[in-house]
Amino acid sequence: MVAENQWIKIKAPATVANMVCGFDILGFAVNNPYDEMGMRWMTRAQNEPSIVIINIDDYQLPTDPEKNVAGAALLAFLEEYEEKEKDNAVKIKLEVKINKLIKPGSGVGSSAASSAGAVVGANYLLGNVFSKDDLVRFAMNGEKLASGVKHADNIAPCIFGGVTLVRSIFPLEVVALPSPQLYVTIVHPQIEVRTSDARSILRQQVLLKDAIKQWGNIAGLVAGLMKSDYDLIGRSLEDVIIEPVRSILIPGFDDLKKVCKQAGALGGGISGSGPSIFMLSKTKEIAVAVEKEMNQLYDGIGLPHHTYVTTINQAGVEIIA
Ligand code: HSE
Repeated sequence: MVAENQWIKIKAPATVANMVCGFDILGFAVNNPYDEMGMRWMTRAQNEPSIVIINIDDYQLPTDPEKNVAGAALLAFLEEYEEKEKDNAVKIKLEVKINKLIKPGSGVGSSAASSAGAVVGANYLLGNVFSKDDLVRFAMNGEKLASGVKHADNIAPCIFGGVTLVRSIFPLEVVALPSPQLYVTIVHPQIEVRTSDARSILRQQVLLKDAIKQWGNIAGLVAGLMKSDYDLIGRSLEDVIIEPVRSILIPGFDDLKKVCKQAGALGGGISGSGPSIFMLSKTKEIAVAVEKEMNQLYDGIGLPHHTYVTTINQAGVEIIA
């Protein structure tokens, strides 16, 4: 257990959920961007709140723990912690400083980084009493608050690092997948797509023929990752269910995908619920060429945007000091 009042520093990576065909089940963490957080624990006096949130960025996110994704995750964490430690007379108060470097609503797991960073930090402060699976369960309360649904395809890679498969949510089963060296190019057009909106437009039923295609792609992608078969990975990055509906929310989506593939990308698509788009490439040179195409396309239609060329983050949330 870390000493009372001692601050720790946490780095929580951005994540790309869905990986095109694996809606709500596949995702991976990236090395850039990431959020920075500070945390400490104190003894809680009577009538004191158990969680204090301090935002040190300009996003003006709520500081009420029940309305803040990190707060919602920590409330779930503390509830189980106090149950586990009920004979311990010391009551815990957690103070969290959040510096969001991952823009909220960008589609690269901003809310997951806050929720996952907070619970990994709390667990470290209090002596690592919970498993990673437990932490994913707590952090999903943040996703519920953000999008109305408990999904773990950002949280799981954020906590485990690498590529993860959420085989089941209830009960939770996360499978860490291997992956060959992959470069990731991300473009974030400066528009906001709320995950709840991007979910509400989805059809509730799928055709069997589409489901069969999607199953083939998910299995192909997982096999491609395990066998380091880049061509199989590329062929499997196809989504016949979600992307056709959601891509209408993202200007230039089809053209962007086309030019990125022409530049040599293996494939890619909407990152999470968008508006960011990601592409996977075999080499850094290709990833940079893909970035150039993204810049050209969005400059051409006058849409402000940010790009990142990065790699898959294998560590997940890290305590850095
Ligand atoms: N799987 C979720 C969705 C991820 O696509 O709605 C949100 O980041």
